[in-house]
Amino acid sequence: MRVCVVGTGYVGLTTGVCLAFLGHDVVCLDLDQAKIDLLNSGRSPIYEPHLDEIMAESADRLSFTTDYADAVPGAEVVFIAVQTPSLADGNPDLQFLRSAAESVGRHIGGDFTVVVNKSTVPIGSSNWVDSILRESFEAAQARRANGEFSVASNPEFLREGAAIHDTLYPDRIVVGSDNPRSLEVLNRLYRAILNQTFTPPTVLPRPGEMGAVPMVSTDLASAELIKYAANAFLAIKISYINEIGLLAGKVGADILQVARGTGLDARIGSRFLQPGVGWGGSCFGKDTAALITTAAEYNHDMPIVKAAREVNQLQRRMVIDRLLDELRIIKGRKIGLLGLAFKPNTDDLRDAPSIDIAQMLVARGARIKLHDPVAGDRFRREHPDLEAFYCASIDEVFDDSDAVVLVTEWSQYLELDWGKFVGLMRTPVVLDGRHCLDPARLTRLGYKYLSMSR
Ligand SMILES: NC(=O)c1ccc[n+]([C@@H]2O[C@H](COP(=O)([O-])OP(=O)(O)OC[C@H]3O[C@@H](n4cnc5c(N)ncnc54)[C@H](O)[C@@H]3O)[C@@H](O)[C@H]2O)c1
Repeated sequence: MRVCVVGTGYVGLTTGVCLAFLGHDVVCLDLDQAKIDLLNSGRSPIYEPHLDEIMAESADRLSFTTDYADAVPGAEVVFIAVQTPSLADGNPDLQFLRSAAESVGRHIGGDFTVVVNKSTVPIGSSNWVDSILRESFEAAQARRANGEFSVASNPEFLREGAAIHDTLYPDRIVVGSDNPRSLEVLNRLYRAILNQTFTPPTVLPRPGEMGAVPMVSTDLASAELIKYAANAFLAIKISYINEIGLLAGKVGADILQVARGTGLDARIGSRFLQPGVGWGGSCFGKDTAALITTAAEYNHDMPIVKAAREVNQLQRRMVIDRLLDELRIIKGRKIGLLGLAFKPNTDDLRDAPSIDIAQMLVARGARIKLHDPVAGDRFRREHPDLEAFYCASIDEVFDDSDAVVLVTEWSQYLELDWGKFVGLMRTPVVLDGRHCLDPARLTRLGYKYLSMSR
């Protein structure tokens, strides 16, 4: 099938590359010329495991452009996957979506096109996109003979760092549509994923337990709400275990055992019950804020979602409190941060806990040393005013430091030969912000081990 994907960010690029891998002809479009130039040279503008290999393998069916006239006419499916960042009032900023919809509408020209919204948008946005498409389509109508279209919603659930895996092996595909023809087109588009009939990439074998993928077909509003409900639920789970973690610290319980013993209950599930500095990234913060503001428009309060957000902010402040408890004075101390990306295996820094933690430490007069396996340069570019030392090597993070905080659980950090660094530190304090180091081992090596709850 001929497919156009508008927006080549974390979602759009993954979608385009995976659909090309499955055998569709895909044109990926972005207004950012630098991104498109990079993609045309065979390189990915984002760090995402396996993306480069699958992109190279699918190169014959994949092209990149900044020109809507190249990409939209003739496409059976046009995905819109542009950013929808938070405005100050918590509402998502829909200017990128509006502009993309206007441009798509001006260029639709096939027999029947399904315009699929993959961006996370407030409930009702698909109708709004439909009206924008229709206006710009009609304004440009004189230039074309045909062009029937319909809007569908297909929310995205991928996890950055495992984006290709989640796209090829999803738990479910949600499609919101009130047009049976759109549903038939999307069923055809996703058939190889739904039935798992494609040959898996060598770098990403099909999980052993993988069966057919359910397609959840709904009306437009339900599909839009499913996305927010799912993200808010995951955010609540993380904040819930963090709240329990703080209590565990006070009563002398081990939060990891508590999380394991709780999560093994099949009704609860163990995923997203990992205590630590809390969530970050482009989705949970923005989507919980949007859910609350949408609810407010209907005079509906969402106290559980609000509380999850408060607990998440508290976790970031708790890093400073833990260091204060141990060091007593932060002013003038050298503090190293291991990990800047909001999670391992991505270079995404949007709403990363590291940003707040670094800023709070600097505000208290600490001298901070930052390290990340892939996101260091991006952090420096995006935070030029932050007074920080960027470490090229892990030795530098420990060298003469009063404390080191593990902020992102990159495997490189978990597998460190920790014994090598203890002698470099002024005071060998380690704050394990993700509860992923072995406290007994670190203590044996001579570290003072601190965690978010212990
Ligand atoms: N990142 C995730 O893990 C994730 C997961 C699920 C859903 N989402 C949702 O998917 C959407 C996209 O997120 P993302 O992280 O991929 O964003 P992103 O910022 O990485 O990418 C968006 C891209 O769209 C391009 N763009 C903006 N306006 C455009 C226009 N008018 N025409 C063409 N290109 C345009 C930008 O240049 C950018 O490259 C958001 O709504 C987000 O909430 C993201």
